[in-house]
Amino acid sequence: MKLNSRFSQFALAALLTTGVTLHAAEPVKFGKSADGKQVHLHTLKNNKGMTLKVSTLGATLVELHVPDRAGKSADVINGWDDASGYLSEDNQYFGCTTGRVCNRIAKGKFSLNGEDYELAINNEPNHLHGGVERPLSRVVWKAEEFKPKSGLAGLRFRYTSPDGEEGYPGKLTITVNYVIMEENILRISYFARTDKATPVNLTNHAYFNLSGHGSPTVLNHMLRLNADNYTPTDDTLIPTGKIEPVEGTPLDFRKLTKIGARIEKLTDTAALGYDHNFVLNRKGDEKMQLAAVLRDPKSGRQLQIRTTEPGIQFYSGNFLKGQVAKDGKTYAHRSALCLETQHFPDSVNHKDFPSTILEPGKQFTSTTAYSFTTFEKKKKK
Ligand code: GAL
Repeated sequence: MKLNSRFSQFALAALLTTGVTLHAAEPVKFGKSADGKQVHLHTLKNNKGMTLKVSTLGATLVELHVPDRAGKSADVINGWDDASGYLSEDNQYFGCTTGRVCNRIAKGKFSLNGEDYELAINNEPNHLHGGVERPLSRVVWKAEEFKPKSGLAGLRFRYTSPDGEEGYPGKLTITVNYVIMEENILRISYFARTDKATPVNLTNHAYFNLSGHGSPTVLNHMLRLNADNYTPTDDTLIPTGKIEPVEGTPLDFRKLTKIGARIEKLTDTAALGYDHNFVLNRKGDEKMQLAAVLRDPKSGRQLQIRTTEPGIQFYSGNFLKGQVAKDGKTYAHRSALCLETQHFPDSVNHKDFPSTILEPGKQFTSTTAYSFTTFEKKKKK
């Protein structure tokens, strides 16, 4: 009820500022969480063809519609029709807020301030994406609409993770803001505070296919990554600690390159394709810097990702296995890809990597903007 009365105030404000369009719709029911809590789905939209839907289960991006070069909108991310899909074994972190620590922690172990911590091993022999029972992707967040300082409309998700949840130290209070801009930009910002030193590394795990979710492949997409270096891994996908140049490897995406051009060179490696953390180049003091450009020649959609984070995980959907999901679409092997802005995997066990330790009294912040535009077809000579 509280949400609804807040909603109407917000809706009225939106109506007064824009004159015509409401940018946030009433939340709808979206099923139940594993512990029986009601889950809701919230909607934001602009006047340029962008609509996004976010669920309170995992503060998860469920739908993201953007126009193609002919102006026709399609949903470009993987998802499920309701909460039960997100809780099923076939869900592979589609669109979720991932953490408390995204990616892997070696053998699920770390030491901090003289204490040893053990986390769930859910990706033999390592800990992956925050755990099993109550990672951030499986808990129900509180949601409210808000009017952002810059941007059309926002959804704020809050969750307080108790001390020791999934084995992590400290009571962690987390806020994730989704903001839609007048142009087709989605900005996601993360904030967290703790009462004990604890590792934090948050990302969104959206799987993109810019031809529309369920399209057969992303190997025809073109990718540019603003990264001269990457963090090589062992055969369990844990960083060795080295930082090496992409030059001369299939990981060189410094120029726009077709994803399928060299992927077969990686099929027989532990990563099974692309599944690497790239060290983003930074120039000057701008907080938000270009991380990635993804283009789909067929639809003409282009996604540009800017972030405050030092790294990005490019994962080419190698574990997608043909699950039938949202709208009855099938997600084949390599039919969607993730570009997860983050601190480097297993940073808690690598002193030389940028630190992921949040101290009491400090605020964790991280922002990533996903900007959608279109480009014209190349003219045949
Ligand atoms: C990615 C990770 C992959 C895989 C995937 C989920 O973030 O890099 O190795 O675990 O999530 O299926």
